[in-house]
Amino acid sequence: MLDVVVLASGRGSNFAALLDAQQSAELPIRIRALLSDKSAAPALDIARAAGIDAIVLAPRDFADRAAFDRALFARAAQFHPGLIVLAGYMRVIDAAVVNEWHGRMINIHPSLLPKYPGLHTHARAIEVGDGVHGASVHFVTAQLDGGPVIAQAQIPVLDGDTPDTLAARLLPLEHRLLAASVDAIARHRIALGNHGVECDGKPLVAPLCLQADGGLRAVG
Ligand code: GRF
Repeated sequence: MLDVVVLASGRGSNFAALLDAQQSAELPIRIRALLSDKSAAPALDIARAAGIDAIVLAPRDFADRAAFDRALFARAAQFHPGLIVLAGYMRVIDAAVVNEWHGRMINIHPSLLPKYPGLHTHARAIEVGDGVHGASVHFVTAQLDGGPVIAQAQIPVLDGDTPDTLAARLLPLEHRLLAASVDAIARHRIALGNHGVECDGKPLVAPLCLQADGGLRAVG
């Protein structure tokens, strides 16, 4: 069993998807706590309803970003997680703190990285006229949304899509992508090596791709 701590700032649908997969025994993980920087985050209520520790730390109570991040991650460390999952966690994390969790922290981002790091990913994909959009799960490094990508899910951009319709169509795939990525890490199939992501002990040349059956496959 892999002990997991999840960080979320908002709605928490990705967190809920992980929780569902854990509860149906699909995922060999134990979610130990949900930490948030926002006291009103609905993700906290999801955790409480599931009997999982729900912890809030407010950035304004700390002198600066580094002090907040040290406190937040010290709290996370008390649960001895083998993996920290950023699931809609909307703050940039201090580089020194990120480096302490090298290879043990992943993030889900709603774009086909390296395209569109940062915010407004759906609007940017539509503006550029992309035919394909998607989501990525990656190991977290000090570069914002720039860490080695583990796996991606793709959807077509349809005529008339708005950022909202695109986001709504992508979200269920994000949930499956995140669960499948956490599953692969929990089963020791995916790890971060010295030269990038390794899959079954071999360097991954391109991100794994989410399939219709919910599995991850190598492409190319
Ligand atoms: C998701 O789109 C995720 O990719 C992004 O923020 C959103 C969070 O949604 N990082 P939720 O809080 O998991 O519902």
